[in-house]
Amino acid sequence: MIVEHLSLADFRNYAAVDLALRAGPNVFVGKNGQGKTNLVEAIAFFATLGSHRVSSDAPMVRDGAEYAIVRARLAHGERRVQLEAQVNRQGSNKARVNGAPVRTAELPRYAQVVLFAPEDLQIVRGDPSARRRFADQLLVQRAPRMAGVLADYDRVLKQRTALLKSARARGLKGEALSTLDVWDDKLVALGTEIIRARIALAADLAPPVAAAYRAIAGEDHRPELEWALSFSRDADTDADDADAAVPKESRTDAAPAAVPPAPEVIAQFRAALAARRSAELDRGITLVGPHRDDLVLRVRGLPVKGYASHGESWSVALSLRLASAELLRADSQLGDPIVILDDVFAELDSGRRGRLAELTSGFEQVIVTAAVGADVPGALRAHTLRVEAGAIIEPEGAEHG
Ligand SMILES: Nc1ncnc2c1ncn2[C@@H]1O[C@H](COP(=O)(O)OP(=O)(O)OP(=O)(O)O)[C@@H](O)[C@H]1O
Ligand SMILES: [Mg+2]
Repeated sequence: MIVEHLSLADFRNYAAVDLALRAGPNVFVGKNGQGKTNLVEAIAFFATLGSHRVSSDAPMVRDGAEYAIVRARLAHGERRVQLEAQVNRQGSNKARVNGAPVRTAELPRYAQVVLFAPEDLQIVRGDPSARRRFADQLLVQRAPRMAGVLADYDRVLKQRTALLKSARARGLKGEALSTLDVWDDKLVALGTEIIRARIALAADLAPPVAAAYRAIAGEDHRPELEWALSFSRDADTDADDADAAVPKESRTDAAPAAVPPAPEVIAQFRAALAARRSAELDRGITLVGPHRDDLVLRVRGLPVKGYASHGESWSVALSLRLASAELLRADSQLGDPIVILDDVFAELDSGRRGRLAELTSGFEQVIVTAAVGADVPGALRAHTLRVEAGAIIEPEGAEHG
């Protein structure tokens, strides 16, 4: 799919902008702080219902305004769909598809976007939460119903944790104990679904990640992805978001782990909850579940986090995004995902720049931003627009598409 037309009102530093985009590469060049990332953040919003930079929506609303409006016309072959999101400073957002109100959660069914950004380095170098967010966003893009499962799990987790906290204060007995059992059942049911979907995702990602890494780095460092589950971890590494990426022998068979059957996961989950119950009551937090899992990434058999070089870490981050784009492309009836490369070329050496350009130039539409136009490889430099203080300037003599 491609974005044919984008319009923004009161989004970040854009008061109002209307913009035609083309199939193939579209490059936005401008000095720092002019609105390049803001523009692509608006496009990606339809796919992820959030920002890749901030966890709340308020910063996306222009200073002084109450809400922002983002409209995009997406095209796939002869089909057109008009998406609209109203991002509210406060309260829940609103959405329309072809003019008709829909639940906001419906938008990602129509828009598939893979955004590469400097922040992606945090996926490989940051806390486990960054890797969980990466995986969960991709899960939702591939299967929008997972958004509901993840939200339900979060809700159950909060309620269960609140109960543990109050039990810590008042002592847990009688009725509270059976209430905890009810929350345990929900936690296990939803958590098992998430754990199994994430393991399946890692298995699906493994081959395209390996191929992308080879193509980007120009070498085969045998990248691996494996979920470190909270209930396979020792009780004494219980610290919040403890690094699960202890170096260990790389598996001899490179084949990713198969998805364990649900009853097996449920049994392990329950056993771990039983084993940790007193620790949970002591500390007033839920110690077991997918909210404490980590996607361990390795190259050459060693964890990326803490071991890999800067260039290797970038290669892994880019490979994860490229592999995501490949999976979405293979799954989708809407054609290719829209590929966005926000300010990534400045981060890469010339070999990786060229190879990334080559690997992405085959997607139906690629949107590139750069502070320095010369950083963008020739293969992606066809249609260039300038961004200046929240305005888009078409090149002289350009026709509107
Ligand atoms: N809610 C908002 N209201 C008004 N202005 C905003 C808002 N959010 C961000 N800005 C402004 O937008 C500008 C940043 O835009 P953006 O991040 O898109 O820059 P950029 O062109 O990508 O720059 P760089 O090259 O540094 O990445 C900043 O000047 C910031 O003050
Ligand atoms: Mg930027």
